[in-house]
Amino acid sequence: MQSVVSYPERGTGGKNTYRGNFSPKFVEDIIDFFRPDSVGDYTVGSGTTLDVCREKNIPCIGTDLNPAFGGVNLLRDDLPPVNMGGYSKMPTLIILHPPYPQKMVLYSGHQWGKTPHPDDPSHFSNYHDFIKAINRMHYNSFLSLPKGGRLITLVGDAKKNGQLYSMVKDMAFFGTLEQIVIKTQHNCLSNSRQYSGRFIPIVHEYAVIMRKDSSCYETKIIAVSHKVFDSRRYNLSWRQAVRQALRKLGGEAGLPELYSELRGFVTTKKHSDPKAKIRETLQSKPEFYSVSRGLWALQTG
Ligand SMILES: C[S@@+](CC[C@H](N)C(=O)[O-])C[C@H]1O[C@@H](n2cnc3c(N)ncnc32)[C@H](O)[C@@H]1O
Repeated sequence: MQSVVSYPERGTGGKNTYRGNFSPKFVEDIIDFFRPDSVGDYTVGSGTTLDVCREKNIPCIGTDLNPAFGGVNLLRDDLPPVNMGGYSKMPTLIILHPPYPQKMVLYSGHQWGKTPHPDDPSHFSNYHDFIKAINRMHYNSFLSLPKGGRLITLVGDAKKNGQLYSMVKDMAFFGTLEQIVIKTQHNCLSNSRQYSGRFIPIVHEYAVIMRKDSSCYETKIIAVSHKVFDSRRYNLSWRQAVRQALRKLGGEAGLPELYSELRGFVTTKKHSDPKAKIRETLQSKPEFYSVSRGLWALQTG
């Protein structure tokens, strides 16, 4: 892989009729380069990532807001783990290919389903709301990663009424920036259009490769404001909160230690019996397992 990639031949996997789909060769390149033990794609669209991973025999979880791919909502839901055959854990490499800005391609009600879904940012006309939603999707994906994991986000730009809407410039990126790869675009609708006046056609996208180097609650966020983001102050789901705390405690912890660690989370403050809720979460989610009585661990592979 080099810092510019181009796939004039799409390859096999997913559907080239699904608007905004990416080339299976892009996923192949990522897998061949990083050699992850597991992959997740929570905006899987036409199933491209799932098909490539199946071909390469790599455990993969692929979901989408589209009910045909599980209906998992990246803005609100817990992200499901990947089945490693015998146990489940969060994937070490996540590919995120979110919707494009300025209603360039509409998903719910167009590519699938009969009506627009309120949590599908492809329908958002307000760019600020759109970026906020994409940041949330992005953070949800980043939080799910184990330490050492990678989040590869593919985003494009849109031009409307003489203004460039550049997601790569405007959205927030979490963790350590490892690389930005330019991916040239082929066979997109805009390539065949004739434009009048001074217009530079957009023929590339960006794959931003972020690495999660620590299990600390605080994450460096690369954004215009350069803020530090603390996951404990974010209203995490119980599953996410317990996962973060266990990671922070080295992947294994006794219940008293976990109770005290989770006391600092907004999620637990609102609950009348947080200890019971922590135990229920540990017992009901497949990525957690009991090492011995009162001692819990997180599957890491
Ligand atoms: C650019 S497409 C992904 C295309 C895919 N890479 C492929 O090759 O087919 C973006 C996807 O995000 C999905 N999506 C939109 N809002 C979502 C949400 N809130 N949660 C999860 N997926 C969502 C859309 O349904 C769409 O399939």
